[in-house]
Amino acid sequence: MTDESTELLRSLVYEPGTPPTLHVLDQLLLPGQRVYIPINDVQAAWTAIRDMQIRGAPLIAIVAVLGLAVDLQTTGELDSLNENDATALLALLETKLDYLLTSRPTAVNLFNAVQEVRDVCHRMVLEDDTNTTARQRLLQAVTQHAEFMLERDVQDNQTLSKYGAHELLSKYSSEEQLTLMTICNTGSLATALYGTALGIVRAVRDQHRLAKIIALETRPYNQGSRLTAFELQAEQMPGATLIADSMAAFYCQRHTVHGIVVGADRVCANGDTANKIGTYQLALVARAHQIPFYVAAPFTTLDVTTSTGQECVIEERPAHEFVQTSQAPADMNVWNPAFDITPAPYITGIVTEKGVLHPQANGTFDVRRFVESYG
Ligand code: MRU
Repeated sequence: MTDESTELLRSLVYEPGTPPTLHVLDQLLLPGQRVYIPINDVQAAWTAIRDMQIRGAPLIAIVAVLGLAVDLQTTGELDSLNENDATALLALLETKLDYLLTSRPTAVNLFNAVQEVRDVCHRMVLEDDTNTTARQRLLQAVTQHAEFMLERDVQDNQTLSKYGAHELLSKYSSEEQLTLMTICNTGSLATALYGTALGIVRAVRDQHRLAKIIALETRPYNQGSRLTAFELQAEQMPGATLIADSMAAFYCQRHTVHGIVVGADRVCANGDTANKIGTYQLALVARAHQIPFYVAAPFTTLDVTTSTGQECVIEERPAHEFVQTSQAPADMNVWNPAFDITPAPYITGIVTEKGVLHPQANGTFDVRRFVESYG
């Protein structure tokens, strides 16, 4: 399946039905080719996530749960179980959820999504309802919840982007056109649609206040140059400029940058944030040049069970991915962490769909209280 249209890029195409179908845009082929590949089961979802054919914390979670919905309705595995054997049905569900969790370890969205699906399914399957079988209730729970998550992601991105744009714009006079900087890809390709940090850039653009968006290349996997640059060009974003990661400090020394916006893979209870490798370095640059530094993170990226960044598992990608993209000698020893931790005190605010969370006097954030206040 190919899609050559020039509209806002779609990271996935999901068709509800019996059974539903799911295709994801193979991001490894971008920007050269736009090819959508089918996800017919949990194994295919796992592989697409693990191999980074799809990536970005919100998208990983959504492909996992939609892939599960398609799997349960197409593989026929549920049919081999007694339709009212709740224990066996839930055990099969747990096996698939546990497997999906082994795909990539750092983005908490996947873990939060699995927990949500688990809770909904246990509640519905164990319901005392003589009109439906436990199997029907399981299918309905997974499918409805996966579809709900898909819609919620788009809405949350748009809402948080408005909050983020308002926050940034309120720091400057109404005549000022902003230059923003970002790292990695946090746009339509990292989410169900629109994006988080790149969504904020879109919202500033929609208010006709964007002068320039500076995208970092994002070594070693080049999400900035392959994916963000592609999204920016597709929309003809004003002043879209690509720089190498190593140019960020010098760019900020020579030009006015009004704000740096980044995404997140996990925001800990104290505000420490795991995000794409290079984010911490960018936060240091922001501090040195007194540039507001915002983390865009929907509630699905908040992790109040992890106290600080010290406790985060940071994924290390295979050496060959780094060696190949850097054209190093084949047997060169490398260290290839996919993410880093930005300590909370470097963060000006955490932009969510419920509003912007600001730091306490000591520079850390009370993420738990913020989450609890929204029940
Ligand atoms: O390794 P990736 O490409 O999955 O890393 C993506 C990021 O670090 C993003 O900034 C983060 O997931 C937020 S995407 C809205």
